[in-house]
Amino acid sequence: MASHVHSPVNSAALNSGTEIPLLGLGTYKLQGHDPLYRSLSSALDAGYRTFDTAAVYGNEGHLGQVVRELLPKHGLSRSDVFLISKLAPTDQGPRAREGCLKSLEQLGCKYIDLYLVHWPGTAGLEPRDPLNAEHRAQSWTVLEEFYACGQFKAIGVSNFSAVHLQELLRGCTVPPAVLQMECHPRLVQRELRDVCKQAGIHFQAYSSLGKGALLDEPVVKEVAEVCGRTPAQVLLRWAVQQGISVLPRSSQPQRVQENARVFDFELSGKEMDRLDSLNNETRFCKRNSADIF
Ligand SMILES: NC(=O)c1ccc[n+]([C@@H]2O[C@H](COP(=O)([O-])OP(=O)(O)OC[C@H]3O[C@@H](n4cnc5c(N)ncnc54)[C@H](OP(=O)(O)O)[C@@H]3O)[C@@H](O)[C@H]2O)c1
Repeated sequence: MASHVHSPVNSAALNSGTEIPLLGLGTYKLQGHDPLYRSLSSALDAGYRTFDTAAVYGNEGHLGQVVRELLPKHGLSRSDVFLISKLAPTDQGPRAREGCLKSLEQLGCKYIDLYLVHWPGTAGLEPRDPLNAEHRAQSWTVLEEFYACGQFKAIGVSNFSAVHLQELLRGCTVPPAVLQMECHPRLVQRELRDVCKQAGIHFQAYSSLGKGALLDEPVVKEVAEVCGRTPAQVLLRWAVQQGISVLPRSSQPQRVQENARVFDFELSGKEMDRLDSLNNETRFCKRNSADIF
């Protein structure tokens, strides 16, 4: 299998000293053994090495099982793949250690390549409850401990605003390696990307395809036509060309393959500008985390 996913162009350095591939497969809603097996099998064939799950997706167990089944079939070992998971908002704070152990156990792994605090708030607390801040600080301390003993190779956060991130940077021992956020031409996240750049945090995009909705966006379709590519490839290329890693999800093997072909073409400056001009703060993930105290 080509190791191009690990070449310097197709991966980014993390402040933890490891590298993260720019292309990964999202697995939200891929439930049960067979759908995961189909998507992951196609993904490994196409060169994906990263798989993104979370405790709240309810599929860590099946994902771990499918990875163990597929690695030998592809002549790969555990160290060839990069697994990402996330702490559930129900396990934020006092239950964080239990949540981290649950993810390791569900995935059936000695270590997880990247573990994220999924959400700045705690399930069941009002957004303005000051306990949210206390709990996420507590969660971070626990992630630092798992990092220190090598059970998490890198640690990071998701859905953190610039305010949450700066608060974390002030109080942490280990700075986050990654911020995973919704990002696409309709939500370019300029401010957050700048904060990350300055702090040496890798910025990772989720919902790059707008959950599918951006594939019908006329400007995206026009750019795709000019490049002789598909709208999905244009949206993913827009990100990876800027060093942003992506996690497209598809249950359809041929689309998984299509979404991987983003390293063999380039968008011109003019095409990038056209896509950037779509920015209007549209969120396809409706919950906004910025109002959490
Ligand atoms: N940290 C967080 O809070 C967070 C939040 C959201 C997502 N994520 C992560 O990011 C991943 C991706 O985001 P997402 O799942 O929201 O959505 P997405 O990747 O933006 O879009 C997925 C949708 O697009 C369709 N699709 C995929 N490739 C396509 C193609 N080439 N042509 C046409 N349709 C295509 C899929 O349908 P088919 O399956 O039918 O192909 C699916 O309905 C998630 O799976 C998850 O791992 C993280």
